[in-house]
Parts: sequence; structure tokens; C-alpha cells
Amino acid sequence: MATMVRAMTPDDFSWVIALNQQHVPAVSDAEGDRFTYLFERSAIALTAWVDDAPAGFSLTMTHGLDYDSSNYKWFSESYDQFIYLDRVVVDESFHRHGVGRALYAETERLGLIEVPDAEVFGLEVNVEPRNDVSLAFHERLGFTELLQRPTPYGIVVAMMGKPLMPQA
Ligand SMILES: CC(C)(COP(=O)(O)OP(=O)(O)OC[C@H]1O[C@@H](n2cnc3c(N)ncnc32)[C@H](O)[C@@H]1OP(=O)(O)O)[C@@H](O)C(=O)NCCC(=O)NCCS
Repeated sequence: MATMVRAMTPDDFSWVIALNQQHVPAVSDAEGDRFTYLFERSAIALTAWVDDAPAGFSLTMTHGLDYDSSNYKWFSESYDQFIYLDRVVVDESFHRHGVGRALYAETERLGLIEVPDAEVFGLEVNVEPRNDVSLAFHERLGFTELLQRPTPYGIVVAMMGKPLMPQA
């Protein structure tokens, strides 16, 4: 299987939003104008393709934004310079084929260009209710828990981070 990662464009919105909505509440709801709001704030918006079939996407932001997410605000209050992965989803047909890993490798490569002095590559994972697959994935990719915090939307998340370093 050949995996390719490309920049997301508005032409991708319909399948990306459908995939996002299939995975609520692992990721938050983002339809219509809300998705456009997120996309416009994402310095690194990627899609992944396996043998030319749409397979996944990710949205990543940098510090200094006007963004209403309490999780993003926590990173803003904790770090001066960072990249923040707002969401990642891989289609279930392609799980465990390295698609998520490919999206993160490209995010890190571009993140170092966008924010060369980033203190952290940050994100959150649900722990109540617990997203064991995402925790295993992120631990495998080198993320560690910074702390756990309750959110205004009623769940508990683990704030996770890793240093943003060039890939070997
Ligand atoms: C989390 C997610 C993005 C992982 O994507 P993926 O393409 O399947 O992950 P990869 O194939 O790149 O996995 C990389 C490594 O992570 C770990 N991993 C991934 N899925 C795992 C699972 N189900 N169980 C245990 N470890 C897992 C493995 O170590 C894997 O390497 P290996 O397959 O060589 O052992 C995907 O499961 C997903 O979209 N889940 C639904 C949405 C979601 O929860 N998003 C995250 C919200 S925080």
C-alpha cells in the first residue's frame, strides 16, 4: 500500500467532515462553518491517501491564535511557542497501516518550519471516557502526559506533549 500525505484543500472538506463526524466524541464535532473556522486557523492541515483513496486527516495550529478551545488555551497559558494538533482521524479501513504515523511525521517536519523554536508539540487525549487506542498511539510516537484536566464540555483529558525535533 502506498501512503501519501498532502495539504488539505476545501475540495477535501466533504469527506474529511464525514470522517470527523464518524469519530465524535473521540474528536469534537465540526460540521459546516465550524470546520471552516478550524481549517482557517490550522497552519498545517493535512490529508492522507492510501492508493489514492482518502484515508485520514489532521489539523494543527501554532501559538498566538484567537481560538476558542479550552485545550488550546491551556497550551497558550503554559508555553510561549508551540504547535498544537487539534485533531487526527484515520479511516477504520486503514488503521494500523502507518497512516497516523505518516500524518505526524509530516506535521513535525512542517511544524519545525512554522515554529523553529517550539517548546512542545502538544495535544490532548480523552481519559474519561478513555480513548485507549489514541493513548497507545501517542505513547508509541513519544508523547508523554503533562497533566490531566477536566474540560468545560464534561470529559477529562490528558494534555500530552513531546519535543518538536527533526526526524532521524
Ligand atoms: C489514533 C489513530 C489516529 C491511529 O492511527 P493509525 O493510522 O491506525 O496508527 P498507525 O498505524 O500509524 O500506528 C502507529 C503505532 O501506534 C500504535 N497503535 C496504533 N493503533 C493501536 C491500537 N489499536 N492498539 C495499540 N497500539 C496502537 C502502534 O504502536 C502502531 O505501530 P504498529 O502498528 O507498528 O504496532 C486512529 O486509531 C484513529 O483515527 N482513531 C479514531 C479517532 C481518534 O481517536 N483520534 C485521536 C483523538 S486524540
